[in-house]
Amino acid sequence: MLEMHFGNMLGEVIGDKGLSLVEIEDIREKTAFAHSQIHDRKWDELAFIDLVNQDTSEIKELAAKITGNSDLFILLGIGGSAMGPRAILDALQPMHNFRNHPRIFIYENIDPRTLEAIIEVIDPHRTTINVVSKSGNTAETVASFMIFWEHMKKNLGDEAAKRFVITTNPEGGILRQIVKEQHMMSLPVHPSIVGRYSVLSPAGLLLSEIAGISSDELLLGAKDILTKCSNAELWENPAYLFSVLLYLMCVKEKRTINVMMPYADGLKSLSEWFCQLWAESLGKLGLGITPYPAVGTTDQHSQLQLWMEGPEDKVVIFVRIVDYGSNIRIPKVFEKIEEFGLLSGQCLNDLIDAAAKSTELALSNASKPNMTITIPVLDAYHVGQLFMFFEISTTFMGFLFGVNPFNQPWIEAGKNNTFGLLGKPGYQKQKEDVLRMAKENVCWRL
Ligand code: PA5
Repeated sequence: MLEMHFGNMLGEVIGDKGLSLVEIEDIREKTAFAHSQIHDRKWDELAFIDLVNQDTSEIKELAAKITGNSDLFILLGIGGSAMGPRAILDALQPMHNFRNHPRIFIYENIDPRTLEAIIEVIDPHRTTINVVSKSGNTAETVASFMIFWEHMKKNLGDEAAKRFVITTNPEGGILRQIVKEQHMMSLPVHPSIVGRYSVLSPAGLLLSEIAGISSDELLLGAKDILTKCSNAELWENPAYLFSVLLYLMCVKEKRTINVMMPYADGLKSLSEWFCQLWAESLGKLGLGITPYPAVGTTDQHSQLQLWMEGPEDKVVIFVRIVDYGSNIRIPKVFEKIEEFGLLSGQCLNDLIDAAAKSTELALSNASKPNMTITIPVLDAYHVGQLFMFFEISTTFMGFLFGVNPFNQPWIEAGKNNTFGLLGKPGYQKQKEDVLRMAKENVCWRL
């Protein structure tokens, strides 16, 4: 089971810059309010919680079919619709494309050069394209879909539709319309689930099954941690405690940056997924916390100096794995040279552990607050726990701040400005605003 070590957030350990138990107890009213929002299901968007009980048989059937008839599986999506699936793949199937079949490629941008390059190399007869968009309306995803559709149509004629799976809102959105018209394969994302909370929906689980990652294990892990993270008592609920500590560090100590630093390459994408969740859910009404994705040990050699001596505005969150499942040893070569001799015969497991512990100690000794989340092993069960833990923490944190953790008005505004510029009827004002800004912008030219 996931553990959360939070001593280094407390005054008893790090001195004046730490939190006191009184400060934590003092916000009981706020925490009770936040708990009631979740417990009483005051928001439809909390439907992501029910994903732990979903029936995955359709996803598995589809995955088996795709695995049998494809050499390449391309996922097109953006934001939560791409970051969640990528977090699963990178955490649980490292080097998938060198080892397994079909190869998987997640593309979330609309850089014309990249799209051109993908189109050039794919074999339409052996490629399946999974278009993932919760709303079914996102311009980037829809544009990529249109480009691939035309290409597949040109090569496959009427068979093209069989090469697409659309994962989207079952009720609305322009992609759903196409699914119906073209009789395409599709999977639903519950209408109330927001993109960044959709990782455990078919948005993430189809790719997971195709990559040979058990969706049942992901869901089981999420379900088990949910039991702990539903407890009304703050001290018994790790997700609530996690949020309360970071909330107090933000409002009392002005620590408005949270560094998310797993000591595992495989969790780098999960750290980016967390950063989207934290940023887009909490950054509202002048409030919120800026998340920063990092990875250990790499960022010890690029960011740690700033965390130690720079502005006092950060909390570092480590994610550690107890057993990496590999005992790769550094061979005994060149041992006569002192520095080589020191490393010879050591396990990489021990080396990464020593690096993490010493960073934690250095931060704590310098009174820099930090927390450590540990999982025993990096497997689907524990990755499922991490997803649900952070999702519950995020919603709880939103309610502590008093913001809506499920909307994203400025993402929508950006989408509308794009529609305006593209000439969509009804979006004339957005078009004029953007054009005026471009004209009035001060510019320095050579
Ligand atoms: O969390 C969110 O709502 C966003 O990041 C979305 O995931 C992103 O904008 C893509 O939206 P959609 O999945 O509807 O295409």
